[in-house]
Amino acid sequence: SVLEMEVEQINKGHYEHYMQKEIHEQPESLTTTMRGRLSRGGSSKLKTVLLGGLKDHLKTIRRSRRIVFIGCGTSYNAALASRPILEELTGIPVTMEIASDLLDRQGPIYREDTAVFVSQSGETADTLLALQYALDNGALCVGITNTVGSAIARNTHCGVHINAGAEIGVASTKAYTSQIVVMAMLALAIGGDTISNQARREAIIDGLLDLPNKVREVLKQDQEMKDLAKLLMSEQSLLVFGRGFNYATALEGALKVKEVALTHSEGILAGEMKHGPLALVDENLPIIVLATRDACFSKQQSVIQQLHARKGRLIVMCSKGDAALVSTGESCRVIEVPLVEDCLQPVINIIPLQLLAYHLTVLKGLNVDQPRNLAKSVTTQ
Ligand code: G6P
Repeated sequence: SVLEMEVEQINKGHYEHYMQKEIHEQPESLTTTMRGRLSRGGSSKLKTVLLGGLKDHLKTIRRSRRIVFIGCGTSYNAALASRPILEELTGIPVTMEIASDLLDRQGPIYREDTAVFVSQSGETADTLLALQYALDNGALCVGITNTVGSAIARNTHCGVHINAGAEIGVASTKAYTSQIVVMAMLALAIGGDTISNQARREAIIDGLLDLPNKVREVLKQDQEMKDLAKLLMSEQSLLVFGRGFNYATALEGALKVKEVALTHSEGILAGEMKHGPLALVDENLPIIVLATRDACFSKQQSVIQQLHARKGRLIVMCSKGDAALVSTGESCRVIEVPLVEDCLQPVINIIPLQLLAYHLTVLKGLNVDQPRNLAKSVTTQ
């Protein structure tokens, strides 16, 4: 109706689509996610993290033998992005489960496990069934959802709300970055303070507090990503290479492109390059390589060299100031992004890829908020 259309226009503000609005409001959604949960501390005071919904269960979580992340789609990718920092700060083994696959295998879940259910809607059928399965097996169940009162929020023992605000676009954007921030705070909360990790913890907390500013900075690349989208508009396929903290960014960037722009796209773990993907490389297939600064940087530099040696058509994402270090020549396109603490870099790196997916879709004249065949909330198996 006319009224519905007007309400929708009000909700979208000056944006044309919900996905566009949700990408651009990430500085604000991330701020809301962190509100009341982090403190910078005074000059002498310790920087701390407070997750109210977890504090009575932290001791049990610290004693668990394993943390199992369970989710679907983008929520699974957010958990994957957070795995390295959780392992680093807690020392507890972290395993990953796609909800449907855990159910298909009836994989082992034990009383000594902490099972963390990640879901924007809190209603995804497979994630909900996996929750029932984990409860039946006696695991401590933690929910990370964006929907207060959702089935996953209600049926877990404890949890953290993402507080990213309602997300309308079918392709998840702001919920993804807020999920990563919640899980970084989760890692800090479970990890607890020790003398040896104090500097690292403080750097992460400072990095979190400054993240909205850095997101604002990277959002300025909107036009650059639109230009790149014009260049890639008629491509059949796109690969995204990542590793370490940004393996998840490769999967999530490829997922954005395939779900809204309907372009075939694969996220590839760069360490697996020689075990298959290298066979695809030629002068036509566009390849995005994520090579921002972290402990894997020199390995990614060598990946770039090897792809270049096979005439790969490269688009490299690097840290500001590193363009000359990663570029392979005139035909190579470079996306420079601000450098943040390594475990938070996935929040920054996904944004140009969200923008790319958005612009590709609009340029192709496709429905960006409701891609064909997909639903925001998958409540049937
Ligand atoms: C659907 C949505 C995705 C989402 C996935 C998991 O596929 O289209 O955007 O990532 O479900 O949803 P959840 O609500 O559990 O995060």
